[in-house]
Amino acid sequence: MNIQENISLQPFNTFGIDKKANFFVKVKTEDDVKKALVFAKESKLPVFILGGGSNILLTKDLDALVIKIEISGIKVLEESEDEVIVEVGAGENWHTFVLHCIENDWAGAENLSLIPGTVGASPMQNIGAYGIEIKEIFKSLHAIHRDTLHEKTFDAQDCRFGYRESVFKSDLKDQYIITKVVFILKKKPTFHIEYGAIKQTLEEMGIEEPSLRSISQAVIQIRLSKLPDPKEIGNAGSFFKNPTVPLEFFESLKKTYPEMPSFPNEQGVKIPAAWLIEKTGWKGKTFGSIGVHKNQPLVLVNYGGGDGNEIKLLSENIQQSVFRKFGIMLHPEVNFL
Ligand code: EPU
Repeated sequence: MNIQENISLQPFNTFGIDKKANFFVKVKTEDDVKKALVFAKESKLPVFILGGGSNILLTKDLDALVIKIEISGIKVLEESEDEVIVEVGAGENWHTFVLHCIENDWAGAENLSLIPGTVGASPMQNIGAYGIEIKEIFKSLHAIHRDTLHEKTFDAQDCRFGYRESVFKSDLKDQYIITKVVFILKKKPTFHIEYGAIKQTLEEMGIEEPSLRSISQAVIQIRLSKLPDPKEIGNAGSFFKNPTVPLEFFESLKKTYPEMPSFPNEQGVKIPAAWLIEKTGWKGKTFGSIGVHKNQPLVLVNYGGGDGNEIKLLSENIQQSVFRKFGIMLHPEVNFL
């Protein structure tokens, strides 16, 4: 384990923001995690955990020990005729894991193809796309407490998953470091192609009978056509969550905006933040080296050399204009540092 000093975090955040950490360490085992935590405690340094860096906005240098989780490995724990239980190191790349599932004909993760980030970060915010959330294939996770170094296993109920939410973003925020995640995947697939453009894309691809592979390819195609590749343009995927408003409020808005798209859920009606941002005129707007993406306005971008504070300010301006026009407050999905 090699603790480095004064390291630029630019290669480690998908927004490509150039801020520094005064201490930085890559950890490959649970033992390394504990050693790093002891070092931080002895040096009286706060700790920041980095996975794929795909959901953070850096607004300042970090006076902290940044621990980059690189725990790897995909191990089958149990296998039956119907399902397989797999344990995955928190540092594995999420999409690499999805491809591994598809190669082995394990079903359940295919709709979540090409989501940036690591496996360890995936339960933190219950990642989701195209009608599926990670909670549907999640069995448990293993984590280390930051202060006591105790190890604990959390099952799905303990994690309290919600839309882009888990207990690790609320009551247990900054308390645990996730080291391994266990998933249950199916050997006999149920395909989910109703959501968004999957069905249409499969048709365009000339696919009549969907398979895990073809659904994954369709999702990849849709994402590549809509979302900027962080390797080319800095971004952290959706910047805001899609808001849910009470039914009565939605009905009053609908009188003024009959074309407003809406998706009823248990709490009320979900309205796409992308639509609200587009209707307030922000889609495709550029301000120096940052802006709002031209195909998916829910994604804020850094074209190169942009500053985290400029992006934060842009996000606040968007929040204000959406609130003024629609009376709806957008909440960031990205974590500010
Ligand atoms: N829309 C517009 N203008 C646009 C784009 C979209 O008005 O330019 C409206 C349309 O009405 C469209 C609706 O927004 O039907 C939904 O758009 P889309 O299907 O692209 O999904 P989203 O709600 O904007 C969510 C996730 C994405 C995920 C997609 C697909 C959140 C915050 N975002 O976006 O997740 O890939 O669904 O399932 O829930 C991420 O979290 O980083 C992410 C990319």
